[in-house]
Amino acid sequence: MENLLKGKRVQLKTIDPEKAPLFNQWFNDPHITENLQWGTLPMPMELSKNFGDQAQQPSKTDQHFSIHALDLPEGEESYIGHISLHHIDWRNRVAELGIVIGDQKHLSKGYGTDAIKTLLHFTFMEMNLNKVMLRHYQFNERGHRAYLKAGFKEEGRLRLQLYRHGRFWDVIYMGILKEEFMNNQ
Ligand SMILES: CC(C)(COP(=O)(O)OP(=O)(O)OC[C@H]1O[C@@H](n2cnc3c(N)ncnc32)[C@H](O)[C@@H]1OP(=O)(O)O)[C@@H](O)C(=O)NCCC(=O)NCCS
Repeated sequence: MENLLKGKRVQLKTIDPEKAPLFNQWFNDPHITENLQWGTLPMPMELSKNFGDQAQQPSKTDQHFSIHALDLPEGEESYIGHISLHHIDWRNRVAELGIVIGDQKHLSKGYGTDAIKTLLHFTFMEMNLNKVMLRHYQFNERGHRAYLKAGFKEEGRLRLQLYRHGRFWDVIYMGILKEEFMNNQ
C-alpha cells in the first residue's frame, strides 16, 4: 500500500524526541515564533524536550507529525517542521491544525502547503473527520496564502484579539470541509 503520509514534496512521520535541539532552535527564532501562540518569549530546551517526549504518548485529542522534505540535497537536514491536529473532537469530527516550518531558509518553498494537503488527506480519508479549522494572526500573510492554496476559507475573525509588536491584531479563523477538500483532488 502507498505511504498514506507521503505528499509530493514532504513526508510526515512521528516526532523524533532526539531532534529536540533542532526544534528548540526553531522555537527561539522570533521570525518563526511571532506567528505561534507561544510568541517571542525564549523557549527553554527543557520545554522542547518535554514536547518531544509528550508527542510519543498516545492521545485521543492531539496528533503530532514531523515534516520531512523529500527533495533536499543529500546530507542536508530533511527534518524541517512539525504539523499537528489539536483538540480532536470525535463527536463533531472537527480538529484544529497547527504547523511550523522551522528554518527560515525553507519558508515559501511550498513545503507548508504540501504538508497541509497531505495531513488533510489523512484526516479526511483515514481518521474520518469532517472539518479542519485553524487560526492565524493578521500579519501572517504567508500563512494565509498557504492556507488558501490548501483550500481553506476564511470563516471569521476576532478583532484586535492579539497584542504583538506594540499593537493589536486580528485573529483570523479559517476552515475546510471534507467535501470541499475532496472536490478539489
Ligand atoms: C505558515 C507556513 C506553514 C507556510 O508554509 P510555507 O512552506 O512557508 O508556505 P508555502 O510556500 O506553501 O506558501 C506560501 C505562499 O505565501 C506567499 N507569501 C510569502 N510571503 C508572503 C507575504 N508577505 N504576503 C503574501 N504572500 C506571501 C508565497 O509566495 C507562497 O505563495 P505562492 O506559492 O502563491 O507564491 C510557514 O511559512 C511557517 O511555518 N511559518 C512560520 C510559523 C508559522 O507561521 N506557523 C503557522 C502559524 S498559524
